[in-house]
Amino acid sequence: MIASRIVGTGRAVPPRVLTNDDLAKMVDTSDQWIAERTGIRQRHILDPSLAASDLAAEAAREACRKAGVDPARVDCIIVGTVTGDCPFPSTAAFVQKKLGAAHGGCAFDLSAACAGFLYGLSIADAFIRAGQYRLVAVIGVEVLSRIVDWTDRSTCVLFGDGAGAVLLAADDSGRRGVLSTHLYADGRLTDILWQPAGGSREPISPEGIAAKRHLVQMNGREVYKHAVKNMVAASRTALEANNLSGGDVTWVIAHQANLRILEGVSERIGIPMSRFFTNVDRYGNTSSASVPTALDEAIEQGKVKEGDLLVFTALGGGLAWASAAVRW
Ligand code: ACO
Repeated sequence: MIASRIVGTGRAVPPRVLTNDDLAKMVDTSDQWIAERTGIRQRHILDPSLAASDLAAEAAREACRKAGVDPARVDCIIVGTVTGDCPFPSTAAFVQKKLGAAHGGCAFDLSAACAGFLYGLSIADAFIRAGQYRLVAVIGVEVLSRIVDWTDRSTCVLFGDGAGAVLLAADDSGRRGVLSTHLYADGRLTDILWQPAGGSREPISPEGIAAKRHLVQMNGREVYKHAVKNMVAASRTALEANNLSGGDVTWVIAHQANLRILEGVSERIGIPMSRFFTNVDRYGNTSSASVPTALDEAIEQGKVKEGDLLVFTALGGGLAWASAAVRW
């Protein structure tokens, strides 16, 4: 049976670093508060001259290079983002051009906030198993610094910019690849984490801008509660669907929202933190970019070996959440 397998990974992180101490000069906060509540020490911020597609193309290029695949052979590009280059065309279309991927291949964006990469992975997996596309780049990219309220200490300390990418190809070994994906959403909770203005519902207006409706708004406590509960449930489903248990898992690569959320997931699912890969301290919450960025770093650090079982999970605005099990 044909499965889809991750044959290359890449990440792109802007060079400019914003530390907690830098933030303490901008809003009433401290390194201690941010580190204790979130585990974040610093985040990266994209240069104003660049856009999401620049980061995304760089990450995808890296994934192709590591896979030894000419980008011109990539026939499908899926970009999960809520901070794309512009409302339309898709960021994926810009990426196709910048990457030098196959013209006439398919390229589209999807909106599932922090779960965007895993939603994309699920779609790519289905495309490959159906034989519809052969080489699919799945990218999570965010330039959250452009939609964060830099005067709101309860949100601006959390987020960072970055991109992560994987290249998926068909694998008929019967041993390796994506074992399962599960996607979820709860549309009753749209308003606990959102950017209210800027779409057809509430077009940008001077009044909207004055009320900061074009910037991220979040009920942090509510998000926290749902993040732990739903990432635990989705991870359990990933294991049960494959007749596996927590003891079989080599690495949980969960959305890097904050360390306390990851610790809550670890405790409730009964998989120790030593098997959670984390890099939230250096990147902050990069939304859809966080899972592929963490995967790329884990591989770079030699932590992922052939045959390992990886569980991915993420939750974000929507609410949308997801999990995947992958035999490496
Ligand atoms: N520095 C100092 N004080 C702050 C800061 C800050 N950056 N932010 C908030 N505070 C203050 C508040 O004003 C409040 O003060 P008060 O008691 O005088 O009113 C106090 O700290 C406690 O605020 P809470 O919001 O109750 O703090 P909490 O312990 O809930 O932590 C946090 C806030 C870190 C946002 C937490 O709710 C959280 O992690 N939520 C998850 C949100 C998240 O990760 N969102 C990302 C997008 S969704 C996702 O990726 C899963």
